[in-house]
Amino acid sequence: MKIKTAALFVFAMVILAACGGRKEDQTKAVDPEYVFTYAENQAEDYPTTQGAYKFAELVEEKTGGRIVISVNAQGVLGDEKTVIEQMQFGGVDFARVSLSPLAEFVPRLNVLQMPYLYTGREHMWKVLDGEIGDDFLNSFDGSDLVALSWYDAGARNFYSSTKPITKLEDMKGMKIRVQESELMVGMMEALGATAVPMAYDKVYSALQTGIIDGAENNWPSYESTAHYEVAKYYTIDEHTRVPELQLVSQATWEKLKQEDRDIIRECAQESSRYERKLWEERERTSEEKVRATGCQVVELPPEEKARFQEAVTSMYGKYCAEYVDVIDAIVAEGK
Ligand code: GCU
Repeated sequence: MKIKTAALFVFAMVILAACGGRKEDQTKAVDPEYVFTYAENQAEDYPTTQGAYKFAELVEEKTGGRIVISVNAQGVLGDEKTVIEQMQFGGVDFARVSLSPLAEFVPRLNVLQMPYLYTGREHMWKVLDGEIGDDFLNSFDGSDLVALSWYDAGARNFYSSTKPITKLEDMKGMKIRVQESELMVGMMEALGATAVPMAYDKVYSALQTGIIDGAENNWPSYESTAHYEVAKYYTIDEHTRVPELQLVSQATWEKLKQEDRDIIRECAQESSRYERKLWEERERTSEEKVRATGCQVVELPPEEKARFQEAVTSMYGKYCAEYVDVIDAIVAEGK
C-alpha cells in the first residue's frame, strides 16, 4: 500500500512538472499551423514586394504566429503565368500578379485594363475601391483562385531602343514586347506595331540583343529592371493602367477556417493601402533616377495622344462587347 502511495505521489509530481513545463512553453511563439508560399516577380525593394512583406507580417501578427507566409520575390517561383497555373492546384499559395496575364484565366478582368479607360489615377481607384471593383473581386468563381486586394501599378508607357516614339506612325512595324495577354497583343496590332508576348524577366536581354525594338511599362518597372540602360527612349503616353491583384489559391483557401480567412482579407486590404503609398513615392523617384541618367523622355502632346486613343477604340467592340454596361459605369465614374 505504501509503495502504491509513493508511486502515485511520484506520478502526480511528474504531471505537475509537465504542466509547469507547458506553462513556460506558452511564452515562446507557437509552432505555425501553416507555412504558405507567396510569389512575387519584382525586386526586394519594389513597392509590391514591400506590400507582400507587410501582408505576411500582419497575418503572422494577427494569427499569433499560427499562419506564416513566406514571400519569394524576384520571380524565383516562376513567371506570372506559371505561378497562376501552379496556384490553380495549390502548388503556390499566394501571389501578387499583374491583371494582364491573369485576365487570360479570368477574361472579364480585361475590362479593367482597357487602353485609355481611366482619366487618371484617382479615377481608377474610385472604380477599384467602389462597387465595381468589389464586384470584380467577387467574380473569380470557376478559376480556382480567390482575389484578395488591389495593388497599384501606375500607368504604362512605351519605350524603345531604336528611336524616340513621338507620333502614331512611329509604331508601325516596331517589335514591341507585351505581357502574355491576348488583349495586349490586340493593342499593338491596333497601333500598327508587332506584338512580341514574353515574360517580364526575358525583356532586358531581348532589348539588348535586338529581338525586340521596345517594350512598355510604368516608371518603377522601367527603372527597377534597368531596361532604361538598353532602351533609352521613353514616351509618356499612359496607354494603360493595369492594376495588380493579391490572390490566394482556392485549394489553400479551403483549408482555412472562416476566422483566418477574415484576418487574411483584412491584412490584404491593409497591405494594399501600404503599397499604394509606397507606389506614389516610387513613381516619383524612379522617374527622377531615370531622367538623371540622360534617357530621352518624350511627353506625347494631347493631340497626338488622342490619335493613339482613336487607334484603339475598335478594341472595345472586340474585347468588351459583353461588358458595355460595366464600361459605361466605369467611364461615368471619371466624369
Ligand atoms: C509590371 C508588373 C509585373 C509584370 C510586368 C510586366 O511591372 O508589376 O507584375 O510582370 O509589369 O510587364 O510583365
